[in-house]
Amino acid sequence: MVELRLPKNSKIGKGQVWQLPTEPKHKQTIKVYRFNPENDQNPTWDNYTIDLDDCGPMVLDALIKIKNEIDPTLSFRRSCREGVCGSCAMNIGGRNTLACTKGLDEFKGKPIVISPLPHMPVVRDLVPDLSNFYAQYASIEPWLQTTTPTPQQEWKQSPEDRDKLDGLYECILCASCSTSCPSYWWNGDRYLGPAVLLQAYRWLIDSRDEATGERLDELEDPFRLYRCHTIMNCANVCPKGLNPAKAIAEIKSMMVGRAV
Ligand code: SF4
Ligand code: FES
Repeated sequence: MVELRLPKNSKIGKGQVWQLPTEPKHKQTIKVYRFNPENDQNPTWDNYTIDLDDCGPMVLDALIKIKNEIDPTLSFRRSCREGVCGSCAMNIGGRNTLACTKGLDEFKGKPIVISPLPHMPVVRDLVPDLSNFYAQYASIEPWLQTTTPTPQQEWKQSPEDRDKLDGLYECILCASCSTSCPSYWWNGDRYLGPAVLLQAYRWLIDSRDEATGERLDELEDPFRLYRCHTIMNCANVCPKGLNPAKAIAEIKSMMVGRAV
């Protein structure tokens, strides 16, 4: 039977307000989505205040400060702190991005609202469950596949062919694009989404790879590839400035090219 009610834990309640002992001269309030699967409570919005004169410049600095000095129970992912690992992707001020490259000064003192990447199950607080996303990535077999014998030294590639990987290899798999895509929200179980399709194209266009036909066969499906409706949210949010929609269009054109 169709489930018409919102799930029990989908309504967000009021949370705690964490004040500093003294009002700072340059303060920043940050509203953060909190969810703890262990306490059987609905999610809440907690409000924190930090002193901008005593904090690093990025949103991630503020989250680390909150965790270290105000509320150690706050959970979020981070690693490299410089836009390379993709682990700190979250929704900041209504837009998916990386907390470590998002400057606090962009908000000019206005409250910042932070929630997990949209439409993903939440493990806890700002930590989304990316199991399906990673399984989809594994499904495109993201490694070099060849049938000719392996050369003694290396697989050679001309500079021109290497250039074709620009705009693709830089993807850090942060999932900001896929989780901003309405097609992926509604069909994420069957549509591969912009990030994984950009990665798929990265291998399709690699001159050294010899599994192009098999890769296209795997993508020839009404959902896996063709649920992209060129909404373009993916290209708008990508924190690395990549264009997954263009990569998807290139795959579709490869499909047409081999059909004629
Ligand atoms: S294409 Fe951009 S937004 Fe999408 S996963 Fe890669 S780096 Fe992140
Ligand atoms: S912590 Fe690695 S991308 Fe932000």
